[in-house]
Amino acid sequence: MSKFNPTDEQRQAMDSVNTHAAVTAGAGAGKTKVLISRILNIVLENKADFHEIVAITFTEKAATEMKVKLRREAREEMSNRLELRDKLAEASLCHISTIHSFCSSIIRRFALDLHQTPDYQVLVEDESLLLLTRSIEEILTELEDENLDYLIRFQADNFNLVRDLASTYNNIREFGYSLDEAKELTHRRFLDAVDCSYTALENYIDSMDKAFDLKEDARGSSKTAKFITVVLEKWPENRDLFLKLRDKKEKISPSDQLAIVEYLSLLDNGTINERLFGKKIIEDVSFGNDVIPFIFTKDDVSSLLRGLYEILDLVDKRYQNLKKERHVLDFIDLQLKALEIIRQEDVKKELLEEIKYIMVDEYQDTNYLQQRIIDELWSDSVNLFIVGDPKQSIYRFRGAEVALFEKTKKEIVARG
Ligand SMILES: Nc1ncnc2c1ncn2[C@@H]1O[C@H](COP(=O)(O)OP(=O)(O)OP(=O)(O)O)[C@@H](O)[C@H]1O
Ligand SMILES: [Mg+2]
Repeated sequence: MSKFNPTDEQRQAMDSVNTHAAVTAGAGAGKTKVLISRILNIVLENKADFHEIVAITFTEKAATEMKVKLRREAREEMSNRLELRDKLAEASLCHISTIHSFCSSIIRRFALDLHQTPDYQVLVEDESLLLLTRSIEEILTELEDENLDYLIRFQADNFNLVRDLASTYNNIREFGYSLDEAKELTHRRFLDAVDCSYTALENYIDSMDKAFDLKEDARGSSKTAKFITVVLEKWPENRDLFLKLRDKKEKISPSDQLAIVEYLSLLDNGTINERLFGKKIIEDVSFGNDVIPFIFTKDDVSSLLRGLYEILDLVDKRYQNLKKERHVLDFIDLQLKALEIIRQEDVKKELLEEIKYIMVDEYQDTNYLQQRIIDELWSDSVNLFIVGDPKQSIYRFRGAEVALFEKTKKEIVARG
């Protein structure tokens, strides 16, 4: 190969055709390049033919680029070797696609066998979001007269009820949960948080008192200026609210709840100067900041979740109906349907006879549902190779867990 001089690490990853492998490296480090070279190595070493390799990328553009590059590299590598001519001709049979196209192809291929009609259009993400947003707006308008107090907790800085409901709804589906399952899980999680946050609250009040006493010493530092002036100055007037919360003597009114949430949103831990306030105080403050929003009573949690999931149930019905009327599926439906189909024993058997290698580029952007699809196909006879850069994950911004990447990485290590 002409200019490409792989580094030792790249070489090791490209040559790892017999073992599962996970590669993490920064932007532009040559991850995609390695993935493409690895495909070629697999074919050159007769481990598999191109059509037995599935490569998943994140966007259509990336898929097209990968196809072009693979063909180009295959040509460079194979065209002057007669015995490889037939193989070269097959380079375009390598299944390089986005996860969405991969799911579509599974559905098109097997749906009829399973007596399902594949007569639908797939909405692109903007279109489905529009339809979902419309469903949410309709439901909220219909509920307008009802008391929405329980949603007060969400009224923090960047609050946008429609947007947040849409992302909650889609997150639940991307995790592959039903609304009932999600409600159950959230309920447990919130109740745990309520328990744990009473201790955190004690520490928090304590730490804020200490920080308040220190505030004169810290005033000179510009780094801490915002924290001092805004957060600590307002501590005395908010302290009572936190005591009330801790003592649980009276029910916290929605306006007090809102005041607490607003006060907490003033906290920007990045501005707290460790040297001046001491590590312990900062830890307590940041930890308290994470859990305190959950701290309302257990009754509060129940009514919040009941209200929230009532809305989500209504939204779900409306949205499903709108899609049905229009004969459309969104990306998540597509993946759920593909997963359901892949899980059928006959289908799985057929697919596993065809697939020897699965490679995933930009793995950090693979959501839970997509990982389940990949996991479903990652049988003993299939080799998995994932590459990605956890730092570039779009899911960080959506608040989902990049931990999933790490989880698969660990499994790969475990399975060799
Ligand atoms: N060892 C190398 N020698 C020379 N060029 C290289 C080497 N490794 C990668 N490159 C080149 O660097 C560029 C970036 O590589 P590539 O797209 O594979 O990076 P990436 O890690 O996938 O980036 P991203 O994080 O943006 O997906 C490409 O043009 C590739 O050909
Ligand atoms: Mg890349």
